[in-house]
Order: sequence, then structure tokens, then C-alpha cells
Amino acid sequence: MVSFNALSLLAAVAAASPIEFPGFPLIARQDIQTPINASLPNVTIFATGGTIASQGSSNTQTVGYSVGLGVQQLVDAVPEILNISNIKGYQISNVDSGSVNETISLKLAHMINEELAKDDVAGVVITHGTDTLEETAFFLESTVNSTKPVVCVGAMRPATALSADGPLNLLQAVTLAASPAGIGRGTMITLNDRIGSAFYTTKNNANSLDTFFSTEAGQLGFFINQVPYFYYAPSEPVGRVTFDISQVQDLAQVDILYSHQDMNPELFNASALLGAQGLVFAGVGAGGASRKASQAMEALYNATHIPIVASHRSSDGFVPSDPKDFTIASGFYNPQKARILLQLALTVGYSEEEIRAAFAKSYPIPA
Ligand SMILES: *[C@@H]1O[C@H](CO)[C@@H](O)[C@H](O)[C@H]1NC(C)=O
Ligand SMILES: *[C@@H]1O[C@H](CO)[C@@H](O)[C@H](O)[C@H]1NC(C)=O
Ligand SMILES: *[C@@H]1O[C@H](CO)[C@@H](O)[C@H](O)[C@H]1NC(C)=O
Ligand SMILES: *[C@@H]1O[C@H](CO)[C@@H](O)[C@H](O)[C@H]1NC(C)=O
Ligand SMILES: *[C@@H]1O[C@H](CO)[C@@H](O)[C@H](O)[C@H]1NC(C)=O
Ligand SMILES: *[C@@H]1O[C@H](CO)[C@@H](O)[C@H](O)[C@H]1NC(C)=O
Ligand SMILES: *[C@@H]1O[C@H](CO)[C@@H](O)[C@H](O)[C@H]1NC(C)=O
Repeated sequence: MVSFNALSLLAAVAAASPIEFPGFPLIARQDIQTPINASLPNVTIFATGGTIASQGSSNTQTVGYSVGLGVQQLVDAVPEILNISNIKGYQISNVDSGSVNETISLKLAHMINEELAKDDVAGVVITHGTDTLEETAFFLESTVNSTKPVVCVGAMRPATALSADGPLNLLQAVTLAASPAGIGRGTMITLNDRIGSAFYTTKNNANSLDTFFSTEAGQLGFFINQVPYFYYAPSEPVGRVTFDISQVQDLAQVDILYSHQDMNPELFNASALLGAQGLVFAGVGAGGASRKASQAMEALYNATHIPIVASHRSSDGFVPSDPKDFTIASGFYNPQKARILLQLALTVGYSEEEIRAAFAKSYPIPA
């Protein structure tokens, strides 16, 4: 794996030539630096792929398109950006977000921590496919150690579509990353004029433009004429846990199992046999499973003591904690965010009690 240090900025500047994307290379094909206007803030874009970087075969194609545009092309599509900020761009990967994995998310977190430590960098933008954007955003929310704005952005329509949403979304994301108003708000997700907290925001619709929101916790703010407005002063989500991942190279394996009628109870043991160090299950209701599934889970827990987190398969909701139960209640964390929290906790060596406490930070523990 080529390290951050190996990415020479000089080479990056020279690399504005046409690019090809054979397959899905992880490492930069093309990194960019726009001409510096010293009176403008500096924003660094980390491009990972996704619909925002995709092209269809016609301007009406909105499914079945393919990823392929590089960070240069994303910026070229929105010249207005250059009046707001100088842009440095890194091509981290060029994949649909279903293929974003821990190599990519760890690389992002490491590079973002390095970038934000620089005095002359105002903030960062991550362009990403929307399908798993909330996972990467939550990972960054849990691992970036900076008060500067971290803005995750994507698009629901490919760049070639009529009314493509990517360019305006990118302009808004860069505006927010460059803005002092974005400081102290953690990692944010912006799409469709909305600004949401990565802690709570989730993708709610597989197809429509208006898909990212958090129903109960609401939005942080919105854009009007490309100016970010916030409803509240900077604040931190209750119970946010952060991890020092400066020495972390890979993450613990945590699987998610989906609860449903007649769930196969063997899946719990199968996951553990295949190497899962922790499990999250997307429970029916507030963390429920059938009697058979619950027994299988408990037998596995008794035999191995691997942490098992009970989350919910409903798009919203809360799993309350029962200190007498062997499962760990996810509280507000949906399965995919609970998985990331559990991965990070296991990776840095939390005990079972510490893991329980990490989840419980976000909810009151019954007396
Ligand atoms: C993650 O994906 C990238 C790009 O496809 C690949 O190079 C890398 O090996 C993958 N990492 C893991 C742990 O699978
Ligand atoms: C640099 O940015 C400032 C502030 O937006 C602007 O007034 C000035 O014209 C820009 N300079 C150049 C050379 O573009
Ligand atoms: C942006 O970066 C350039 C080059 O490092 C620097 O001269 C300039 O001061 C930076 N702008 C701000 C507002 O920090
Ligand atoms: C950038 O700002 C200058 C000066 O205000 C303006 O003339 C120019 O049209 C702007 N460019 C874009 C692409 O918005
Ligand atoms: C964040 O950085 C501060 C100051 O360098 C350090 O004291 C703290 O331990 C770091 N926290 C994490 C979670 O990395
Ligand atoms: C799962 O494994 C545990 C411990 O090895 C065992 O007691 C239990 O019978 C197994 N359960 C199933 C459903 O296979
Ligand atoms: C797991 O262990 C607890 C405590 O010893 C016991 O009460 C329970 O019956 C065990 N469950 C299973 C499914 O073996």
C-alpha cells in the first residue's frame, strides 16, 4: 500500500493529464492542487468514488451507471468552487460505496487527521457513494481528532444525468468545509441542501434525492444561496465516543445478522466460526429475536463471551438497556453504526464492560 507520505504533491500537480480507471484502483491515479489564492481558505477533497463520480450512457440513466470520474473532473465541473477555496484533492479510491472497506476508511481517517493538523487547512470534504456513506461518516466522527469541519458528500444522480445533484452538493460541501460556521460540529453529511450530523444521519431511501436525514434528532442546518445556516451553536452528540486510531492498521471483524421470522439460529455460531470477534444483530422491534435465535445467541455468548449488540432493523428507534441481559443494547445506534462502534472498541482493546459503557454513554442506564 502506498503511504500518504509517498504521495508527492509535485507529482500530483503535474498529473492533470487524462486518467484511466482500469478496475477500481485504491490508490491515487491523480491528485490535484488548484492554483493558490493566498487570501482564500484551503480545503482538501478526498475522493473515493460513488454516484457523484459516475457516468451513465444517457442523460436519463439513473441506475446501472458506472464509477469513473476522478477528483479533477469533479472539481472541473464546479468552477465556482475556486472562488471559495483553494482545493487540494486526493484520489483515495474510485469505487461504489458498497465496496468501501476498512482499508479505505482507515486510510481516510489517517490522512484526514494529518491534513487537519496543518494550520493552513480549513477543513476537508469526502466524496463518497451514498449507500454506505453514513458508515464512513460515522467512522470519521469516531476517529477524527479535530474541531475543523469534516464534510461527507455524495450524489443520488450520476454526473451525466439531467438535474445531476453532485455539482451543487460538492459546492455546498466545500463551502461548509471552508466556513468557520462548520467548526466544532463533528463530521457532517450534506446532500440536497441539508446539513446533518454523521452521528445520527442515515440514508432513508434507496433512490430519491431527499434521502439523508435523521428523523428524531433532526438536521444541524441547511444551505440558502450556498450559505450554510445552522439551527444551533456547535455541540456534540450525547454519548459520542472517540478513538485514537493513529496506530491502527486494521479493524476487528464484526458481522451483522438480520433478525426475522424463522431466523436460522446457526448463523450466530457460523459467524463466530468464520472469525467474528463481535456480533451485531438487527433485531425485530427494539432488539428482539425469536426464542430459538435468542437461545443460540446466548449459547454462543456463554461459550465464547464475544460481545453481541442488539440493535433494531426498523429504520429508527432505540434499544433500551437491560443490565441483566447478556446482549449489549445499541441505544440509538442503527446496526451499521453499532458495528463500527463495536469494531473500534474491540480494535483498541476494550473489555466487555468498557464496550457496554461505550454504548451506554448515549442513553441513561436504568437504576
Ligand atoms: C479494500 O478495497 C481496496 C480497493 O478495492 C483493495 O485494494 C483492498 O485490498 C481492500 N481491503 C481489504 C481489507 O479487503
Ligand atoms: C483571491 O481571492 C480574493 C477573495 O475572494 C479575491 O478578491 C481576489 O480577486 C482573488 N485573486 C485572484 C488572483 O483570483
Ligand atoms: C492556503 O494555503 C496557502 C499555501 O499553503 C497559504 O499561503 C494560505 O495562507 C492558506 N490560506 C489560509 C486562509 O490559510
Ligand atoms: C469568481 O469571482 C469573480 C469575482 O467576483 C467573478 O467575476 C467570477 O465570475 C467568479 N467565478 C465563478 C466561476 O463564479
Ligand atoms: C486528540 O488530540 C489531543 C491533543 O493532541 C490528545 O490529547 C487526545 O488524546 C487525542 N484524542 C484522541 C481520541 O485521539
Ligand atoms: C453453538 O456453539 C455453542 C458453543 O460451541 C454450542 O453450545 C451450541 O450448541 C451451538 N449452537 C448451535 C445452534 O449450533
Ligand atoms: C447461559 O449462561 C447462563 C448463566 O450461567 C444460564 O443461566 C443460561 O441458561 C445459559 N444459556 C444457554 C442458552 O446456555
